[in-house]
Amino acid sequence: MADLSSVQEVRDVTKVDRIGAHSHIRGLGLDDSLEPRKVSQGMVGQAQARRAAGVILEMIKEGKIAGRAILLAGQPGTGKTAIAQAISKAMDKDVPFTMLAGSELYSHELSKSEALTQAFRRSIGVRIKEETELIEGEVVELVVDRPATGSGQKVGQLTLKTTEMETVYDLGGKMIDSLIKQKVAAGDVVTIDKAAGKVTVIGRSFARARDFDAMGPQTKFVQTPEGDIQKRKEVVHTVSLHEIDVINSRSQGFLALFSGDTGEIKPEVREQINVKVAEWREEGKADIVPGVLFIDEVHMLDIECFAFLNRALENTMAPVLIMATNRGITNIRGTHYKSPHGIPLDLLDRTLIVPTTEYSQDELTQILKIRCEEEDVEMTDEALTLLTSIAKQTSLRYSIQLITAANLVCRKRKGTEVEKSDLRQVYSLFQDLERSVAFLKEYQQQFLFDEGDGSALAAASAAATSGAANAATSNASATTSSGPTAMEDDDDDL
Ligand SMILES: Nc1ncnc2c1ncn2[C@@H]1O[C@H](COP(=O)(O)OP(=O)(O)OP(=O)(O)O)[C@@H](O)[C@H]1O
Ligand SMILES: [Mg+2]
Repeated sequence: MADLSSVQEVRDVTKVDRIGAHSHIRGLGLDDSLEPRKVSQGMVGQAQARRAAGVILEMIKEGKIAGRAILLAGQPGTGKTAIAQAISKAMDKDVPFTMLAGSELYSHELSKSEALTQAFRRSIGVRIKEETELIEGEVVELVVDRPATGSGQKVGQLTLKTTEMETVYDLGGKMIDSLIKQKVAAGDVVTIDKAAGKVTVIGRSFARARDFDAMGPQTKFVQTPEGDIQKRKEVVHTVSLHEIDVINSRSQGFLALFSGDTGEIKPEVREQINVKVAEWREEGKADIVPGVLFIDEVHMLDIECFAFLNRALENTMAPVLIMATNRGITNIRGTHYKSPHGIPLDLLDRTLIVPTTEYSQDELTQILKIRCEEEDVEMTDEALTLLTSIAKQTSLRYSIQLITAANLVCRKRKGTEVEKSDLRQVYSLFQDLERSVAFLKEYQQQFLFDEGDGSALAAASAAATSGAANAATSNASATTSSGPTAMEDDDDDL
């Protein structure tokens, strides 16, 4: 059995998930009537925006409406990206969701319009229905004849049966290889996809249960199939228009899908594919599934990109476009004109705007608590209260980052629960924006390339204290920062 030993076993690799900024978000946390639960699926508060997201989700699920644009607008750290993540988690698996940051459009290899076109076509799914012929039955016998010389084509026969019939199939080399790989033996119930040459072992036949006495706990027993061995089955798979483009563009080939290095795709290729897909739709072989394109930091787009979006949204196959921004009234990139959120008015006019608002003390505590659970950190109630007040004074993001750091300090002193002292230590080790600005103000002369007029610092400190980057709408008067010692003073009260 020299051949068998060379067949390598395929082992499942245990998937290791890293903890990311939004890994605690598992859905929108809505009940059946789209009312947001207070704390659910990792989501806290932000009720209005979540309710709106629920309506959008329904719209996506219906899949009938094309080309709607939604803008999530609000201060930094109010959960815009989190809500978009939640929508993607709550969507059906076969509806495409593409995520793109505005800054990703500027690359030397792809023009902006090509990158946007690819993003749009990635977000449009084509559900293709196919009928395939399957062979399903219990293996009675598998005979493999090896050539006497040891090389050359293997041949063999496979005998399959159902409750009603028994058939012998001749096997080619490829089919023998995949049968051996799956360790198919007499008594197994298998299905074979003839066209793809794919063998699937469903389980072992009940009738032969007594013949196997050494079995793992994972051995599954099934009934011998009934009826014909040959069956017709409808299989449905969803691919995105972009995937069809890449596979059909001769210069790329499907391997480009794995490297992601697809380059520019010729318009003629896309044209042909659109025609083909339209044909399939008419013949009832395929459906279009409009998905979601999420563009984060949409203010990074310039006027040309916005013009592209305007036009692309009018296409009947357009996906739902979700955008997010934390800007106020600011320059539209590539022009001297100012506009709300840095987005031209004609695009804003087609957009449903969903605002996100700042969190209350309670909500901050809840979010921090969820993050502690996510990062496997135990924290005393007192420390959590302190962390909440840090979040209130600085920002939610900063205090989320303190959790892991404080836990490391706690572990160094061999503690099991993060206490106030650990938080205090990391708070003094790592500065937040506000304290960093105060430091710069004090020592600005000693830094290289100092502009000296302090206008940038004024804007930064306004942003730090108001918690908003929309300097244009917020009163940008330089708020005095409370300085590096503010925290130590506060501690006694907590
Ligand atoms: N309602 C919420 N429930 C749970 N976690 C949240 C919620 N809102 C925000 N978070 C978490 O707080 C952090 C900051 O939120 P997020 O990144 O979504 O902010 P943002 O609005 O996208 O900010 P920016 O404008 O800076 O991009 C993230 O880790 C996010 O998962
Ligand atoms: Mg964001």
